[in-house]
Amino acid sequence: MSSETITITDNRTGKQYELPIEQGTIKAMDLRQIRTGPDDFGLMTYDPAFQNTAACRSRITYIDGDQGILLYRGYPIEELAEHSTFLETSYLILFGELPDAAQLAAWTHEITLHTMLHENIKKFMEGFQYDAHPMGILLSTVGCLSTIYPDAKRISSEESRRLQIRRLIAKVPTIAAWAYRHSIGRPYNYPDNDLSFTGNFLNMLFKMTELKYRPHPVLERALDILFILHADHEQNCSTSAMRGIGSSQADPYSALAGAAAALAGPLHGGANEAVLRMLKEIGHVSRVPDFISRVKRGEGRLMGFGHRVYKSYDPRARIIKRTADQVFAVTGRNPLLDIALELERIALEDDYFVSRKLYPNVDFYSGLIYQAMGFPVDMFAVLFAIPRTAGWLAQWDEMLRDTDQKIARPRQIYEGAAKRPYVGIEQR
Ligand code: CMC
Repeated sequence: MSSETITITDNRTGKQYELPIEQGTIKAMDLRQIRTGPDDFGLMTYDPAFQNTAACRSRITYIDGDQGILLYRGYPIEELAEHSTFLETSYLILFGELPDAAQLAAWTHEITLHTMLHENIKKFMEGFQYDAHPMGILLSTVGCLSTIYPDAKRISSEESRRLQIRRLIAKVPTIAAWAYRHSIGRPYNYPDNDLSFTGNFLNMLFKMTELKYRPHPVLERALDILFILHADHEQNCSTSAMRGIGSSQADPYSALAGAAAALAGPLHGGANEAVLRMLKEIGHVSRVPDFISRVKRGEGRLMGFGHRVYKSYDPRARIIKRTADQVFAVTGRNPLLDIALELERIALEDDYFVSRKLYPNVDFYSGLIYQAMGFPVDMFAVLFAIPRTAGWLAQWDEMLRDTDQKIARPRQIYEGAAKRPYVGIEQR
């Protein structure tokens, strides 16, 4: 028994139970021994939305929500955003250590090698409605990849897992770019493997008739920083979906399609799209106080504010705000920025937001940058899914190696009708 324990007294029976506390946690299964009778199943915890339940042990990402700290494999997000690249950071997240020069060159080469999509995938994507939302295209096309790579079902083979990881990190940007080209009715651009990861992505998005696309270095770097910031965020909604689906031993393409679906919602990866729509709806700085009053009356939320884990300023939001200045120096200032700054100023002084510890999150400013770079709002969640692919895969791989894990299967409190006989239609 661990040296730290908690004693629970069952007032119904007077019995006492001593439960070990390890890493600030008690095991929910230890509560099962608390019963009142032989038919009693044992005590459960009720935790809708997993607000206070650790569903796994992880070595990937650390968040201290009160202090506003985010570390990938121990490295502060601020240092990675300043010195690293997305591909290097994704290697770190997936394999636990920063690569040396040879490892990074090999990793970059492997990813570059896998950027092409099977021509049948192109035909599959061409079948979408002309105005299909790119996020819908992305998640269904990723699911479709499971039919192209049936070998991905061999999830217990480390070699196969590594291959699918490389394929997914390389191919998701191609699918994302083609989803965008499809939505604007332009031909799909093939990857240019001379370019960097983000440079090639910009090429597939924006190349027109020029023979060689040359990304603007400031925008290429800004996108790379945004990708680093979004690469992982421990057990969020989409990552939990990835782990949950993966726990049934589904192939990673199917699991990642589910994770992307979870990301599509406005409370998660769709939030920056919602921020832009909100800023547009507010329309002018003078209308900010009225909008804040409406939020306080419960008539909607201040999108891009608040977080389940951060109860202080999201460290990613601070980096994004700096990156925005560099992008606007190239693209021109996004006119909605003034409304965003005023919203932030008022909200950070207002007791409603201060008392609930609601601060700007990663999505509050990212949409403004994406819009200034020429992305339509429909693409914002897709831009989140590209880097998060690295995090989803790292968490999936970790889950499959974890001997504590089984198929995810929460319990419920049943509140429906008790057993009763079937009633024929003529008697109802
Ligand atoms: N605007 C106004 N009030 C808010 C907001 C907001 N954005 N967020 C939370 N609140 C209030 C909420 O009404 C509640 O008040 P009360 O206690 O009076 O009922 C209190 O703050 C606690 O909120 P909650 O809904 O219990 O908090 P949660 O941890 O369940 O929700 C959240 C977290 C991110 C879903 C929520 O803050 C939210 O809806 N934010 C807006 C959407 C958004 O920006 N999402 C992006 C999250 S970061 C990117 C990512 O991880 O995907």
